[in-house]
Amino acid sequence: MKFFVDTADVAEIKDLAATGLVDGITTNPSLVAKTGRSFLEVVEEICGIVSGPVSAEVTAIDHETMLAEGRKLAALADNVCVKVPLTPDGLKTCKALSDDGVQVNVTLCFSAAQALLAAKAGATFISPFVGRLDDIGTDGMDLIADIVQIYANYPEYDTEVLVASVRGPNHVVQAAKLGADVATLPPAVLRALFKHPLTDRGLDAFLADWAKTGQSIL
Ligand code: E4P
Repeated sequence: MKFFVDTADVAEIKDLAATGLVDGITTNPSLVAKTGRSFLEVVEEICGIVSGPVSAEVTAIDHETMLAEGRKLAALADNVCVKVPLTPDGLKTCKALSDDGVQVNVTLCFSAAQALLAAKAGATFISPFVGRLDDIGTDGMDLIADIVQIYANYPEYDTEVLVASVRGPNHVVQAAKLGADVATLPPAVLRALFKHPLTDRGLDAFLADWAKTGQSIL
């Protein structure tokens, strides 16, 4: 399973990329707004830090402008993945960009029917938002199960399931059990994956016993 990090914060990206566990980055207009920085500059900088796909979202809602924005974003670096919303114009743009060999992440997916359309439009990634579905009282993971099953029925679709709007380690584990290709994790969630109280307790005990030996490995 691939891990992307869901942030536009360059300091966080550098820190987490050093773990060797980061396969890509996703951003969105809200995450970029939080940085207060120029969008194009941030995307270019992130693409220099992480070699995997870096999702950068168009902000127009009509096809022609989306396509122009997508082409401009794609020209920033080879690993830019243009993010488009799951709308008729977004999918038209997805088709045009993917026909040109540009990676496309179709975002704001909330139904299996939408995911089917994105695959037909040639999306590289489909981003179902599990946390936002949980927020309205439905189980976001049911949608992941449906999409994984549907895509498995049609091996001719290359679209990868990118689980988005992840709120905690449990979402990551459930997504992995269902066979999702990617999860995009807020930095705090990626850090939380390392943690278990028994790991901390066990390490404290080992170190205390080791100190009693008076030895040093180096
Ligand atoms: C991913 O590409 C999305 O930008 C992100 O996961 C949305 O998460 P949120 O629902 O926590 O804003």
